[in-house]
Amino acid sequence: MKYETVKNELREHPRTWLITGVAGFIGSNLLETLLNLNQKVVGLDNFITGYQHNLEEVKMLVTSDQWQRFTFIQGDICNLGDCHKVCKDVDYVLHQAALGSVPRSINDPIATNVANITGFLNMLVAARDAKVQSFTYAASSSTYGDHSALPKVEENIGNPLSPYAVTKYVNELYAGVFAKTYGFKTIGLRYFNIFGKRQDPEGAYAAVIPKWAAALIKGEKVYINGDGETSRDFCYIENAVQANILAAKADEEAKDNIFNVAVGDRTTLNDLFNVIKEKLLRTHPEIVLVEPEYRNFRKGDVRHSQANINKSKKLLKYCPSHRIKDGVDEAMTWYLNQQKI
Ligand SMILES: NC(=O)c1ccc[n+]([C@@H]2O[C@H](COP(=O)([O-])OP(=O)(O)OC[C@H]3O[C@@H](n4cnc5c(N)ncnc54)[C@H](O)[C@@H]3O)[C@@H](O)[C@H]2O)c1
Repeated sequence: MKYETVKNELREHPRTWLITGVAGFIGSNLLETLLNLNQKVVGLDNFITGYQHNLEEVKMLVTSDQWQRFTFIQGDICNLGDCHKVCKDVDYVLHQAALGSVPRSINDPIATNVANITGFLNMLVAARDAKVQSFTYAASSSTYGDHSALPKVEENIGNPLSPYAVTKYVNELYAGVFAKTYGFKTIGLRYFNIFGKRQDPEGAYAAVIPKWAAALIKGEKVYINGDGETSRDFCYIENAVQANILAAKADEEAKDNIFNVAVGDRTTLNDLFNVIKEKLLRTHPEIVLVEPEYRNFRKGDVRHSQANINKSKKLLKYCPSHRIKDGVDEAMTWYLNQQKI
């Protein structure tokens, strides 16, 4: 079914959704869209990298009736009891909670392993026991590892280059085994550099787009790791939200499967810098002469990344609404508004 049809059907027949990691970047955007569609949502988060202010912002963007349909539970996916509690009477699970970031996993592989593997397994068991209708989880393009072919096709992966990539690959392995052994079929969405509103610009593990936006706005230095010719398939948050909702409602044929979530474009870091700068120049003319500073390549980073999204288009009817410039435009508008507050 097409995205618009799925959304209309959900408006007519509201369902109960569980979003883990609901106070995070992707989780809070899923929450906003689902509440706007009048769905009932249960959210779980332990606030390790998520924020109460993300939830507060969503509250301001929906009606009070819609907000009443949201139940927040502060808890941990590493606690099986919490997972069982939040899965009760849920139709669709969107499992986002995990510790993101390649460098974080290199600095502390144990913490990443616990949240991303033990936590994931707990959620699979709890969702299976609760007999939910569908379980969609955040996989990662890092699973392609050292496989050099471009664009990336779901079936061809290489060896992981970081502890984070190992954990995300193990998620896929567990998901496959749960389909075979318990008949519990899931859908994994391999996200490719998702960006947009509410992505955290702060901290050592911030993603590149919010980090650069914040640095340019504050007049701080912008660093590029490597020569700037590293490339990525940057994907705006609205596309990722669409993929999640389509996956949750997908036919049996699409289940027990992994899908790329991206645009199918490739942008170098040098080009990305220029796209962000061009947008911010309109309000910050003083950055006209700012150039990035180049430093060493970062360990564990893949050199080039670009997705083939044919499988997602065919089986999920995924159709990205935003290419990079449209997404950067909307995201920068949001970061600029934040600065005014
Ligand atoms: N943003 C991207 O580009 C990207 C790319 C590939 C995969 N992913 C995956 O998408 C998911 C969401 O990422 P995000 O960018 O929104 O990150 P985020 O850090 O903003 O959100 C993750 C949320 O999960 C919560 N969380 C972490 N560990 C938890 C635990 N043990 N129990 C309960 N809650 C916990 C955090 O507090 C946070 O709110 C993650 O699984 C991440 O690995 C993201």
